[in-house]
Amino acid sequence: MAEGVLNVELPLPKVTSGKVRDIYDAGDDRLLLVTTDRLSAFDVVLKQPIPGRGEILNRMSLFWFGFFRDDVRNVVLGNDPDRMIGLENVPAELRETIRGRSVLMRKADPFPVECVVRGWLIGSGFRDYQETGEVCGIKLPPGLRKADRLPEPMFTPATKAKEGHDENISYEQVVKLVGAEHAEKLRELSLEMYARAVEYARNRGIVIADTKFEFGLVDDDIVLIDEVLTPDSSRFWPADRLVPGENPPSYDKQIVRDWLERSGWNKRPPPPDLPEEVIEKTARAYRDIFERLTSSTIRR
Ligand SMILES: Nc1ncnc2c1ncn2[C@@H]1O[C@H](COP(=O)(O)OP(=O)(O)OP(=O)(O)O)[C@@H](O)[C@H]1O
Ligand SMILES: [Mg+2]
Repeated sequence: MAEGVLNVELPLPKVTSGKVRDIYDAGDDRLLLVTTDRLSAFDVVLKQPIPGRGEILNRMSLFWFGFFRDDVRNVVLGNDPDRMIGLENVPAELRETIRGRSVLMRKADPFPVECVVRGWLIGSGFRDYQETGEVCGIKLPPGLRKADRLPEPMFTPATKAKEGHDENISYEQVVKLVGAEHAEKLRELSLEMYARAVEYARNRGIVIADTKFEFGLVDDDIVLIDEVLTPDSSRFWPADRLVPGENPPSYDKQIVRDWLERSGWNKRPPPPDLPEEVIEKTARAYRDIFERLTSSTIRR
């Protein structure tokens, strides 16, 4: 199996380094997003890379940017490192390392809101529902079970926390943060795009239980930014394995999470080393979901 990429250091100013991605400033309002093969589980970044994961996440995102090009302005500038403006000083060898796992985008002014849409009840949405009967201030019918499909998809925004976990907020709070006009537009776009993606994935046997979009402004236009409908920003479930009331198996991190649970790890750093077979199985799971969703193959 090919080796994975845990860290890359490019000779460009780094804007941020998340658990998975490193973002660089490529000059003149351009951002370079590099997706590594890092994997986090239970909020801890594991020591070993999952080979191919970064490329799959990046290619999936690019697939959806294209899919939504009629819904929202696309600010992807390119994905071939040899042709990216602003990367002239990056040595050829490093350009090879980031090939497939990088995208150059126009820098937007991001809205301080995570545009979450839920079609099924799970995670923090389910927890809120159990406690209050509501999700983000929206009342739901009683008696819903974990992993039940919602009567209709809900826009359940969250703050973008610099540290710790994002916090669910009400629509009124979104209005306060971005103004009524933008709030309305973000809600409408998110719900519309989610519905299109759900329909597309359903025909491929995949349930998109929920997802998170990020938007920003470029020359006063609302644009789609960040990553789009990847397993890191969404919950993908195999449609034929959904049992309401139970935790559906996810397509991606489940294998790692299950192994970590069984290992007896206390979920505080440092994490244990993953066995080779767990790494391989996980890498395969990412390839499978990518191939199922996009009907294209990934080189091995
Ligand atoms: N085109 C863009 N213009 C401006 N900002 C962008 C653009 N694309 C992505 N971003 C921002 O870059 C940041 C990416 O951060 P990243 O997702 O790597 O780390 P994080 O969200 O801080 O942590 P995590 O690892 O938990 O995801 C986000 O704040 C996102 O809004
Ligand atoms: Mg992020």
